[in-house]
Amino acid sequence: MADKTEKRVAIITGASRGIGRACALALAADDRHVVCVARNVDKLNEVQAEIEAAGGSACVATCDIGDQQSIEAMIDKVFADHGRLDILVNNAGITRDNLLLRMSDEEFDEVIHTNLRSVFVACRAAIKPMMRGKWGRIINIGSVAGVVGNPGQANYAAAKAGLAGFSKCLAKEMGGKNLTANVIAPGFIETDMTDVLPDAIKDGVKTMTALRRMGRPEEIASAVAFLASEGASYVTGQVLCVDGGMTMC
Ligand code: NAI
Repeated sequence: MADKTEKRVAIITGASRGIGRACALALAADDRHVVCVARNVDKLNEVQAEIEAAGGSACVATCDIGDQQSIEAMIDKVFADHGRLDILVNNAGITRDNLLLRMSDEEFDEVIHTNLRSVFVACRAAIKPMMRGKWGRIINIGSVAGVVGNPGQANYAAAKAGLAGFSKCLAKEMGGKNLTANVIAPGFIETDMTDVLPDAIKDGVKTMTALRRMGRPEEIASAVAFLASEGASYVTGQVLCVDGGMTMC
């Protein structure tokens, strides 16, 4: 095994763009060594270069979070390379929206597999190295859809609500080992995922939001950085809606 990395090591899935990229930049700015994970190595390399240009420390790991072996091998390699794993941000996720009457088995299963099962696999693999370090922060990116529901997203909302129950169990099981587990539930954030929505939906979202606008990836990243910080040591098992006052849950 290589020498233990001095900085706390953070894995961020889906770090090639959007919210994950913003989380990678924010955690690196907080002096974490960031492992940027996604499938597209070229985009990951760009994020790594951006972090390093700002004076931060990062590396990349390609991984398909839909593939259990790929996740487990990635986490094992991070521990072998750095001798520690302190922070896991499960951010990668997909949508396959459809009204329930029309939703196919494949659309339901794919979203549950990618957005929920992958988090179970990643957390199970990550808690062992975190326990060895006697410190750990797990932050799962949910959604307000998992808190209040959203038409056309029964699969997605089920997966995201599942993350809340899952994270609370994790918090209770691992609290005695100084590991915390929390969920951030973003509202509507300007990324590739929401870029495809019709303007009428975006306008409706703004009307429903106290702050009258969509959020920026950096606004989710700053909440993630807080939960990953030393200062959040007594916060666990929570679902924090970062949604501009859309749900006020
Ligand atoms: P995005 O679509 O811009 O980025 C998703 C990231 O996940 C990309 O890096 C993509 O490569 C990665 N990814 C997807 N499937 C993967 C797989 N099988 N293996 C490895 N990487 C994979 O999405 P965005 O908007 O940045 O969303 C990030 C997270 O935030 C997701 O979990 C999403 O559900 C959640 N979210 C987003 C909201 C929004 O308004 N954008 C609102 C609420 C939650």
